[in-house]
Amino acid sequence: MSTPNTRLAAFLEQCRNQIDAELERQLCASGQGSERLQQAMRYSVLGGGKRIRPALCLAAATALGQPRESAIVPACSLELIHAYSLIHDDLPAMDNDDLRRGRATTHIAFDEATAILAGDALQTLAFGWLAEAPGVDDQVRLAMIRELATASGHQGMAGGQAIDLESVGKQLTVEQLENMHRHKTGALIAASVRMGALTATDVNEDQLAALTVYSQTLGLAFQVQDDLLDIEGDTTVIGKPQGSDLARSKPTYPSLMGADGARNYLSQLLESALASIEMFGVEGDLLRDMAGYVVARTH
Ligand code: IPE
Ligand code: IPE
Ligand code: MG
Ligand code: MG
Ligand code: MG
Repeated sequence: MSTPNTRLAAFLEQCRNQIDAELERQLCASGQGSERLQQAMRYSVLGGGKRIRPALCLAAATALGQPRESAIVPACSLELIHAYSLIHDDLPAMDNDDLRRGRATTHIAFDEATAILAGDALQTLAFGWLAEAPGVDDQVRLAMIRELATASGHQGMAGGQAIDLESVGKQLTVEQLENMHRHKTGALIAASVRMGALTATDVNEDQLAALTVYSQTLGLAFQVQDDLLDIEGDTTVIGKPQGSDLARSKPTYPSLMGADGARNYLSQLLESALASIEMFGVEGDLLRDMAGYVVARTH
């Protein structure tokens, strides 16, 4: 019998292989437009990354007894939006970081204008792929496009990034910090789970509601752990400059409640995430494993 750890490791590896193969296949040079722009897009998407959002999308499909195949393209579209968000997040106008996934950020490896355009192009490409996702009917495709648009835009990730930048140097309340994290990181993670669930045409309201609570809680936990890694991680392990938040006076959970406070909060979030998906049987185990992974990850 496989233990949760070996089950998770096998799932993550399988997921990474499937997702990377699809991304590689779809991002091959088109022969149209700028070769340099396409190189920057490939550089940002194919250069590593844990593929957590795609994995959550596939795990949610599994929880509903759905074959993973129909969730592959939606999962890849989530990774494109994520890659775009990282390129823009690292720009001098935002976090001004020069290291990502253990190598030069896109604007350093290319140039700022190319990095901005690569982010723009990846964002629209995500919706293009979703519009043509195979194995799902038109209604589902539309629902997923709506989901991804809301989670990425001003009501989701972009909105959260704006709050993040407006908050530099400010002392936020716990409520304000939570609101920022829920938008900038939580929204896309919630969309990852919900889009996986939407591939099951027979998903019911109760299941979707439970998965929404799970994913929003996990999304918040994800950013709390990211904040902790910024102060406690090792640059060579996290693959991005440790101490970046502190250097830019970003409000974070550890800055507000101390590292121990943030860790306690993380344990509470894990407990509530797990409690919210009790209704799922063994099919929900991958989601449970993913929750444990998100809060304990070292990079
Ligand atoms: C980093 O996300 C950005 C945040 C939302 C905190 P990940 O930690 O998932 O980054 P990769 O994709 O594994 O590099
Ligand atoms: C960024 O949060 C979240 C998004 C990219 C939307 P961070 O700025 O904390 O992410 P890292 O630490 O640079 O990966
Ligand atoms: Mg940032
Ligand atoms: Mg950053
Ligand atoms: Mg961070």
